[in-house]
Amino acid sequence: MASPTIKDSVVFVTGANRGIGRAIVEELVKNGAKKVYATARNINSLDELVAAHNGKVVSLRLDVTKPEQITTAAAQAQDTTLLINNAGIANYSAIINSYDTARGRQEMEVNYFGLMNVTRAFAPILKKNDGGVLVNISSIIGLVPAPAVGTYSATKAAVHSLTKSVRYELKDQGTHVLCVYPGAIDTEMAAGFDVEKDTPQNVAQAIFAAIESGAEEVFPDKGSREFAEQFKADPKAVEREWGQMLPETLKEIIPPPKPVAVAEITPEPEAVVTPAPEPQAIVTPEAQDEAVSAPMDTPAEESVASIADVLEEKSEAVATQESEKTPEPEPVVEETIVPEPVAQAAPEVVVPPVIVPEPETPKPQRKGEEIMRKAGDTVIRIVVE
Ligand SMILES: NC(=O)c1ccc[n+]([C@@H]2O[C@H](COP(=O)([O-])OP(=O)(O)OC[C@H]3O[C@@H](n4cnc5c(N)ncnc54)[C@H](OP(=O)(O)O)[C@@H]3O)[C@@H](O)[C@H]2O)c1
Repeated sequence: MASPTIKDSVVFVTGANRGIGRAIVEELVKNGAKKVYATARNINSLDELVAAHNGKVVSLRLDVTKPEQITTAAAQAQDTTLLINNAGIANYSAIINSYDTARGRQEMEVNYFGLMNVTRAFAPILKKNDGGVLVNISSIIGLVPAPAVGTYSATKAAVHSLTKSVRYELKDQGTHVLCVYPGAIDTEMAAGFDVEKDTPQNVAQAIFAAIESGAEEVFPDKGSREFAEQFKADPKAVEREWGQMLPETLKEIIPPPKPVAVAEITPEPEAVVTPAPEPQAIVTPEAQDEAVSAPMDTPAEESVASIADVLEEKSEAVATQESEKTPEPEPVVEETIVPEPVAQAAPEVVVPPVIVPEPETPKPQRKGEEIMRKAGDTVIRIVVE
């Protein structure tokens, strides 16, 4: 089978309104894609992108944590030949010494379950369109964790693993599956960190080259390529080095994150293609938007730099922050929407058994004699014949 090409492809991109997703959309148009479905939680945030690309970019509303929106978007994008699962969040949360475990749960909902459900919804579409291509964005810290951002690292490790499983599940339908492992990229996610970063445009072009060459994985920027070399040579040494990136150390140089509104333990959204998902507690769109669009306090890819470098570079900033302490942010108000009651069959009425005392063995009776016997609450009159 010939390798897929970007030219004339129909592409569906999640999280397309900014960062790497937006760069992917722009570079796709430059590289001759036939149509690009640019998707975002706030559809208005795509207006500029649509206007700039003269009919090639179609905007769709998609929050990847909302199964019903996935179903609707998939129904509207039936001609997709290339799916790029790019949407993601990075919160500041370690695993033991965590500021807020809810933030870790929110990361898993977006980065893992969201990506998984979009993938499941599009697998049949790609099959219909000659197999097509699936691209999932993981991270180098999905390969080696950074303990200070342990929850984010775990989501990206989950994406790494999922992508390998899906590659084999979709092999027979001819879908090519690519996993992307960026290092530090110059987007809002990495905005607070003063480390060397590559551009989102370079990431996009590296992804296209990997698709066209038939690669199964790509390290799309300078930092991730250096990482790949070290990792290949001595994975344990990289792990030990990054293991020094502990929350105890980093919290001294990184301001605590804003609290976020996260649904109470959100059950795994079931069957994306099923119109009636499991009822679950969710936050209002406004609360969710506010929560997720909160500035990222800890970009995971900071871990690419050595701890010594980071500490040195940030120590002056800490002193300044200490003297200009900002007030604690207002907690985001969480609202739980009570799901529609689900119609259920009337419960079966369980009737407790009535225990009737064993009748005594009747003594021999004379003809015509009456015997009164009690069975439960009933008194029975018997006439001997
Ligand atoms: N930047 C890096 O250094 C780096 C390194 C390795 C991997 N990555 C990965 O690359 C991908 C893109 O990151 P980025 O750097 O471009 O980050 P970014 O600038 O923060 O952009 C994240 C994008 O994801 C969207 N998003 C967040 N939650 C969503 C949800 N529930 N449903 C749909 N979209 C949602 C955001 O939309 P809103 O505008 O609505 O929030 C935004 O479009 C992510 O998967 C990230 O983990 C980034």
